[in-house]
Amino acid sequence: MNIAVLPGDGIGPEVVEQALKAVKAVCEKKGHKLNYDFGLVGACAIDKTGDPYPAETHELCMKSDAVLFGALGDPKYDNDPNAKVRPEQGLLKMRKSLGLFANLRPVLTFPNMLHKSPLKSELVDGVDFMCIRELTGGLYFGRPQGRSEDGNVAYDTCVYSREEVERIVRLAFDFAMMRRKHLTLVDKANVLCSSRLWRQVTKEIEKEYPEVTTDYMFVDNAAMRIIQWPKSFDVLVTENLFGDILTDEASVITGSLGMSPSASIGLHTSLFEPIHGSYPQAAGKNIANPIATVLSAAMMFEYAFKLKEEGQMIRDAVTASMAAGVVTEDIANGAKAYSTSEVGDWIAGYIKNN
Ligand code: IPM
Ligand code: MN
Repeated sequence: MNIAVLPGDGIGPEVVEQALKAVKAVCEKKGHKLNYDFGLVGACAIDKTGDPYPAETHELCMKSDAVLFGALGDPKYDNDPNAKVRPEQGLLKMRKSLGLFANLRPVLTFPNMLHKSPLKSELVDGVDFMCIRELTGGLYFGRPQGRSEDGNVAYDTCVYSREEVERIVRLAFDFAMMRRKHLTLVDKANVLCSSRLWRQVTKEIEKEYPEVTTDYMFVDNAAMRIIQWPKSFDVLVTENLFGDILTDEASVITGSLGMSPSASIGLHTSLFEPIHGSYPQAAGKNIANPIATVLSAAMMFEYAFKLKEEGQMIRDAVTASMAAGVVTEDIANGAKAYSTSEVGDWIAGYIKNN
């Protein structure tokens, strides 16, 4: 298997290093041949090449079976409204040019983390749903986008074609079939034309999946129900910006941003990344929680290589590390906290020895 490794900025390199340890341990144990190569993306790529997603990185990703990505972003760009090029553009360019149209963000609770959730334990215990966010369309990419000449009017456009909606809605139904057979389409069809297309297409495809119960929910209502009754969801599918917002909201249920992995799948390759950002305040301190990235590597085995058992080996090792209390300070709960690399070593060691 050929993997492109893009550590990115901030804590990206530290957490990716730990995930790589787990990947290597699994490959050694199962006898898979692993090839990997590093590439630049984000602020570090701008610093070295002027481009947040250089052609060289794109070529590397295109010839790889999967991309393992850390995070990108640097505060030095956030406070400069005139910055011509921003690290985030690298992420959008990468998603678009790799055709990564479906972003999968599982929302799961860990039994020994329930106390960390801001919600009542009985509400979150047993939460297990999959958010599927469309990733290459909508307001993020729609044209026209811009400012009037005098600068006093600004506009973005939400555009979706039938093909774009169909491919992700089908994927969502397929996921529902493998799970509890319950799909929720989240939209704003009472106001937005593009949402009415989503709803129409979903109603058509629904007929091909008679076993799946399909719900249609407005995004404002969904935002409320995710907090009020998170166990009522199984598979949630939605457009790009709604998905961006709802998945941040949903990640809070788990209790720590440092635990949530994601997969982006699509046309040319697939990409795996933690949903937390580059967390610049912690960069280089060896304190960041590597679990989200380690679990993203588990998703890589499962989705990119169809190696479910290998993915499970990683997940079991993560569960064991939490049970053993070998965790970083964000989830240590007052007990001894371990460093990023200690947690990574422990997880890789567990995989080797079990
Ligand atoms: C995410 C991030 C990105 C997004 C930003 C960094 C462009 O928030 O992956 O959710 O909005 O998609
Ligand atoms: Mn986001």
